[in-house]
Amino acid sequence: MPTFSGELQLNSDQELRHLLSLEGLPKNTLLQILDTAQQFVSVTNPDREVKKVPLLRGKSVFNLFFENSTRTRTTFEIAAKRLSADVINLDIQTSSTSKGESLLDTIDNLVAMQADIFVVRHKTTGAPIEIAKHLPAHVHVINAGDGTNQHPTQGLLDLFTMRHFKKDFENLKVAIIGDVIHSRVAKSNIYGLATLGCKDIRVIGPQSLLPSDLDMQGVRVFHNIEKGIEGADVVMTLRIQKERMEEGQVPEGEAFFKEWGLTPERLALADKKAIVMHPGPMNRGIEIASEVADGPQSVILKQVTFGIAVRMAVMSIVAGN
Ligand code: NCD
Repeated sequence: MPTFSGELQLNSDQELRHLLSLEGLPKNTLLQILDTAQQFVSVTNPDREVKKVPLLRGKSVFNLFFENSTRTRTTFEIAAKRLSADVINLDIQTSSTSKGESLLDTIDNLVAMQADIFVVRHKTTGAPIEIAKHLPAHVHVINAGDGTNQHPTQGLLDLFTMRHFKKDFENLKVAIIGDVIHSRVAKSNIYGLATLGCKDIRVIGPQSLLPSDLDMQGVRVFHNIEKGIEGADVVMTLRIQKERMEEGQVPEGEAFFKEWGLTPERLALADKKAIVMHPGPMNRGIEIASEVADGPQSVILKQVTFGIAVRMAVMSIVAGN
């Protein structure tokens, strides 16, 4: 399936119509989403009695998760409900997909049920792009992770978290460790950071887990974790995505941790105010030590909370356009 989202995500007035990829998404659109999310943070404040706004009242959001999810699916549902939308979680296991119905036939049927927004996670790279091409003009699609390609709302919530704790992207040093080649999260982060002017993006890991096309401006490759982490302001670790690789491709378990695991000693080489991020799900003792995951520099659960406001922002912007 195609990976080029290009102009497809913007309408003729250059407004966001679908969110498919952070690759090629203009800086002003990225900032519009982050700034809108900032406004929604107050709606999601635990002290607020009614955590709802009526922006998507009467609209239907369909969550279509063809791959497993905890954080992304749930925070999309919470976000849609806080915007007063009706949310339909299609249970793919018990849907007619298992009877051989094609993806686009399923979509046509849900459009006939008056869907306004589709949130789609699929193991096939480009599946949300195919859906976007197929949809009538008034229906929107948000990519919630396609294969190893992109996970734009995770990228956005990560950028939001970095801006919250660190502010200035131009002087930020970001180290991303581990299974970058299979990580749609890392790819969305790299494109988003580059667009926002970050000049020091490092990826750290064994050759077999790093893409060979990281020649974008600012991306440096390290095969030594200690060197790569040095002085970083943001240290992001990733899960080894075994479901996307062949057996024996990387050292596993303890062997991986020994060489690439984020330990307190290694974190001490980063800037002393560095934040630790992880998109989840975490495998403790493999890519990250528990002392780091639960330590004072970890903002991992903050990322989850900010995900609600960021997804509210994306849904309200696409539906508003
Ligand atoms: C990630 C994903 O599904 O791409 N998780 C997430 O959405 N927060 C990362 C992963 O699966 O390791």
